[in-house]
Amino acid sequence: MNIHSEKILILDFGSQTTQLIARRIREQKVYCEIHPYTLPLEKIKEMQPKGIVLSGGPASVYDEAAPLSDPAVFELGVPVLGICYGAQLMTHQLGGAVERAEKREFGKSDLEVLFTAGLFAGLEDGAGRHQVWMSHGDRIEKLPEGFVSSARSEHSPHAAIRHGEKNLVGVQFHPEVAHTLIGTDVLRNFIFGICGCDPSWTMHNFVESTVRDIKEKIGSGQALCALSGGVDSSVTAALVHRAIGDQLVCIYVNNGLMRTGETKSLMRYFEEKTRLKVIEVDAEDYFLGELEGIVDPEVKRKRIGYGFIKIFEEEAKKLGDVKYLAQGTLYPDVIESVSFRGAAVIKSHHNVGGLPEVMKLDLIEPLRELFKDEVRELGLELGLPEEAIYRQPFPGPGLGIRIMGEVTRERLHLLRRADVIVLEEMKNSGYYRKVWQSFAVLLPIRTVGVMGDERTYENVVALRSVDSVDAMTADWSKLPYDLLGRISNRIINEVRGVNRVVFDISSKPPGTIEWE
Ligand code: XMP
Repeated sequence: MNIHSEKILILDFGSQTTQLIARRIREQKVYCEIHPYTLPLEKIKEMQPKGIVLSGGPASVYDEAAPLSDPAVFELGVPVLGICYGAQLMTHQLGGAVERAEKREFGKSDLEVLFTAGLFAGLEDGAGRHQVWMSHGDRIEKLPEGFVSSARSEHSPHAAIRHGEKNLVGVQFHPEVAHTLIGTDVLRNFIFGICGCDPSWTMHNFVESTVRDIKEKIGSGQALCALSGGVDSSVTAALVHRAIGDQLVCIYVNNGLMRTGETKSLMRYFEEKTRLKVIEVDAEDYFLGELEGIVDPEVKRKRIGYGFIKIFEEEAKKLGDVKYLAQGTLYPDVIESVSFRGAAVIKSHHNVGGLPEVMKLDLIEPLRELFKDEVRELGLELGLPEEAIYRQPFPGPGLGIRIMGEVTRERLHLLRRADVIVLEEMKNSGYYRKVWQSFAVLLPIRTVGVMGDERTYENVVALRSVDSVDAMTADWSKLPYDLLGRISNRIINEVRGVNRVVFDISSKPPGTIEWE
């Protein structure tokens, strides 16, 4: 079965929640893709979607530069669901009227359903009243010809609309957010009831068809994969290996900035459980040499990034004829969302992004359609150990950006010892998997303390732990005091050279997750 034979197309008008729409649909085992609203009609037709979703967005339809869809989208005979701005757009482009609302609706709202079929099938309970989440300043005032209202709220007489004969529907609220309690029902009604999709997009099917595609693309050529020990590169390697076996060679660069035992268990797994070829390059001296005397975070990041490319390239040359590079790019990196254009560079992220151009390699990116949680599911399907799959993210520049100021061997040693304690305690308390990331940071200052009647003048370790869904925003984790106390006690008692531990209580924004 071709997993892409049935898909929902989401046209993005720049909403903050467009990705959420995709996730909610995929949770129902229906494949979907997000494309910018500018996707040409011809491409839409080629994709043969079973349904189209017009996302929300920050614009007003009557703005001069308002993003519009090709009106022919409504004539394709494919069901269309407009969400918020998408619903207003449908109204506007089909001859109705949208105006600035006297009272804007933000947050929870009470929806009165007038038509319990179509989008609201099976929602007869609650006397037709349901909690939904709204976020709009404009509202639909006059319906286009052929449309009727199927729900209303206090400030929206047409909170949901439908065409009498065609499969064109719209909702003013956001079914994709958790506060819309009937959101899943509404989306299910659209994809299954209205579009007639099958819930057949499973990881098992994904593996089968992806393995077939990779085999076809690579043929008898050789491919490389930069294995970092992280979830994305491990899953990529396992998947590509399943497709082409020994034609895949993985390179693992030890940059001397890894945690204690960080990749050991994974390497052992690859060695014992798979026949993956892994070349381990010990480049500790090189990287630590490059970082000598460097305190500026961006310079650190750049040196580590360039160093990685240099070493990878050297190793690849030794292998001779390699044409492909397998890379664990994920869907959020791929989406060309109109809302994120022109974002400022806060940090130069280190990944293998520069490699394909430098080495003239063709990219294989088997995870480009997946979200992080789907990658984990895929890893389980491929039989990777849970320990590898549920690892917290670890940045490419490693401990190099968790040591403020110069990175030295002594300081690395100190931070590693503190870090092990943080990990152990987080795991023992069950918080390791509950938080997004938790780690220790070494500060470049010393403070005064007293130990066994003696004055001490030693280092400070900061503990960082955050909750997040996608690392774009994050909040500091509300860890129990006794856990914080245990971590602090153990670090101060067990790590010689540290006499103080502080807890970082900044959210992102305005802070970032890593300190550099
Ligand atoms: P920040 O610090 O920007 O981090 O809030 C967001 C997420 O990205 C991780 N991170 C990196 N990952 N290469 C990576 O692969 C990098 O250079 C890098 N820098 C930060 C960070 O750990 C967090 O999960």
